[in-house]
Amino acid sequence: MKNYIANIITAFLICLLLAGCSKKGDIIIGISMGPTHERWSKDISYLTQHLESQDAKVIVRQANGSQVEQARQAKEMIEKEKLDVLIIVPVNSDAAGKLVDYAKSRDINVIAYDRIIKNCDLDCYLSFDNIRIGEIQAEYLTKIKPKGAYALLGGDPGDNNSLLLRIGQMNVLQPLIIKGDIKIVLDENVEKWDDGIAYQIMKDYLTEHDAPDAIVASSDGLSRGVSRALLEFGLGKDVLLSGQDAETDACRRIVEGHQTMTVYKVIESLAASAANMAITLANDDPIPNTLITVNNGTKMVPAVLVSSIIPVGEENIRMTVIADGFIDEKQVFRNE
Ligand code: GAL
Repeated sequence: MKNYIANIITAFLICLLLAGCSKKGDIIIGISMGPTHERWSKDISYLTQHLESQDAKVIVRQANGSQVEQARQAKEMIEKEKLDVLIIVPVNSDAAGKLVDYAKSRDINVIAYDRIIKNCDLDCYLSFDNIRIGEIQAEYLTKIKPKGAYALLGGDPGDNNSLLLRIGQMNVLQPLIIKGDIKIVLDENVEKWDDGIAYQIMKDYLTEHDAPDAIVASSDGLSRGVSRALLEFGLGKDVLLSGQDAETDACRRIVEGHQTMTVYKVIESLAASAANMAITLANDDPIPNTLITVNNGTKMVPAVLVSSIIPVGEENIRMTVIADGFIDEKQVFRNE
């Protein structure tokens, strides 16, 4: 009996000791941010806020859209900081695979944040349903103009989201194309999601052709460039134009009539889920087995697709992005 009690006490003490060794309190999370548009700085602050509120130390590196710089910064973090988890928003969905494998070889867990990383041993992927976002963009425009000439301006070819968005847009457009109601007059992907390149593509197109009836631009960065070209050709309010991200200037274009819609994604929810996942992985706690999985070419990656995706046009801008405090009212309604 004495032995039995001693064993229980020993087991209890070992548990206490192990609990004491649990990561809580000294967790270090690295964030490798590839792109730079307005939304990503919000993602960084939400992520930091949600991680720090759980006592994690956060190290952020911003690669300004350069894949080479992202690789350099991430390698440096992996080698010099004692990271438990690395959260990556890749510039390029393929190239970043090498970074994931390098981090994993040093026992660091890796999360792909909002852009999947292909062909590597990724621990988790969190994003929105990008196919659905593409569908929402095309649905919004085709409801207003179910017939006509449509131009498609997609995102960076190295970002897997560009492909997913295009799949969603075509889910809606293809039946109308087959019916003969819609004709695609321009179809381009824009390197680095760059508004300057989008501007140039649209300007070149308008120099040679009649204006299309609608332009399905995959992001607000792209619609910024497109809108600039349209205005130069005196077409500001005539052509339907989509976007995504609910960026400040896009919201302003919507109330001024120069952009038809954007897609508001509640990125704070995404950041909160990613922060919780990072803490779970850092503590070596099991991740919920209720997650969906997404094939990244190497494995079925446990994934979370956050469902809050809201189409925003002039009619609901106040009750969505403004009411949520996502965008400052004064910056949108500047003439009131
Ligand atoms: C995509 C993302 C969009 C947009 C774009 C450009 O990956 O899904 O929300 O921000 O990048 O940065």
